[in-house]
Amino acid sequence: MALLGIDLGTSGVKALLIREDGTALASATVEYPLSTPRPLWSEQDPADWWRGVCEATQAVLLQAHLSGSDIRAMGISGQMHGLTLLDASGEVLRPAILWNDQRTGAQCDEITQLAGGKHRVLELTANVVLPGFTAPKILWVRENEPEVYARVAHVLLPKDYIRYKLSGEFATEVSDASGMSVFDVRRRTWSDEMLHALNIPREWMPRCAESHEVTAHVSATAAPAIGLAPGTPIVGGGGDNAAGAVGNGVVREGIVSASIGTSGVVFATAEKFAMEPEGNLHAFCHAIPDTWHMMGVMLSAGGSLRWHRDVISRGRVANDLSPISYDDLMSDVASVPAGAEGLVFLPYLTGERCPYPDPLARGAFIGLTLRHTQAHLTRAVVEGITYGLADSLTLIRGLGVRINEVRAVGGGARSAVWRQILADVFDAEITLINSSEGGAFGVALLAGVGAGVWSTTREACDATLKVTTRVEPTKDATVRARYAETYALYREMYPALAPIFSKLNT
Ligand code: XUL
Repeated sequence: MALLGIDLGTSGVKALLIREDGTALASATVEYPLSTPRPLWSEQDPADWWRGVCEATQAVLLQAHLSGSDIRAMGISGQMHGLTLLDASGEVLRPAILWNDQRTGAQCDEITQLAGGKHRVLELTANVVLPGFTAPKILWVRENEPEVYARVAHVLLPKDYIRYKLSGEFATEVSDASGMSVFDVRRRTWSDEMLHALNIPREWMPRCAESHEVTAHVSATAAPAIGLAPGTPIVGGGGDNAAGAVGNGVVREGIVSASIGTSGVVFATAEKFAMEPEGNLHAFCHAIPDTWHMMGVMLSAGGSLRWHRDVISRGRVANDLSPISYDDLMSDVASVPAGAEGLVFLPYLTGERCPYPDPLARGAFIGLTLRHTQAHLTRAVVEGITYGLADSLTLIRGLGVRINEVRAVGGGARSAVWRQILADVFDAEITLINSSEGGAFGVALLAGVGAGVWSTTREACDATLKVTTRVEPTKDATVRARYAETYALYREMYPALAPIFSKLNT
């Protein structure tokens, strides 16, 4: 028997089949489009998600020579926060409004006011209201598309729409519900006070389970479309970050992950509820009962390095104007001393979220001299991204959360040079693990827990994941001192430049 994990991402959906010992059997990704009909808008058609899920699932079954009846259980992970609105007959009312849509600044202010101010919102939901989150999108539809709003009967997150298509059930789970601005993260249930303050009917919200619980079963109608057997159990699953943390074994206090993809995420497990008092970190339910997580999201991590490669860096041969490879970029980084000889890069190329919730923040190189070469610029970019991640780690440490080990995940973790910079700047041991399947693997493990293969999610992680590489911080006192000084300066730069960034945008 096998377990199926689906990860409904922003650019495509990945299906992963694993054996009950955790080894991967097959994986397939199907892409779908994203539309930006107006500046700041970001939407997708839920029909594309469903088509992608069916194709990717059929592809993995074919690859692994399995039939639907060989699947013991499945789990779904996905992009968080997106708003999918359904009418009373279950039809989608408008394109889904995604996590990276920025149209709802005014509604965020309105919600904060309606609920009694920022600190009351933090008490009720453990998070400040951000444009990416779900509730401001509901208010936006109420204010801008009243004819759509009048027909709303169900509010679903992206992965929960897939559950609905699979089973006809309206259900979600605690990790994804945490990012909706109407969920009481501390008590792991809907916040009636918040729903009441915003005048959003409680009946629109799906039933909310823990992430490993069986929430639904594949229906006889959906079975032929997806290729699974009717009755296949579907567990709660998780928002992509919580599910990814399960897939990376980040399930105990002391282990943190630093993920470097286009964006950067620092994720820490908390065995007691905790939140940053000003809401500068996200505080969400983890995909494990009685466990929470804190998370700092920076918007341009690997995205900054890609920009640097595509826009600034050139190949090594004279007159070669093609962009340089990532491997060559990273060997250049190794050729320049720590601190890039006084050059600092601010990675706010698409504004920032943590620790500065500022859409107007901008990127910058500070300290350029004639002595600096392309290699210095590259080193400064990699160090600047690392300092941005360190800012979230600093906030997490400030809450008294223990950090024994930081698991590096995502594309940036592939570089040995970058792993050493992470260890030195974070002053923590950096590890790699034996899996890079992320969220799809995490929800396949949760499906195994729901189906009784393992008795807890921690047991599932212990049985299937192990550390393969460890990197210690340098013992070189000069390098340590150089990073400490440069990071201290980096922390002064955004506050000093923020007024100028905001004028540049007017
Ligand atoms: C988390 C967040 C993103 C999305 C995108 O708060 O906005 O990680 O889940 O996948």
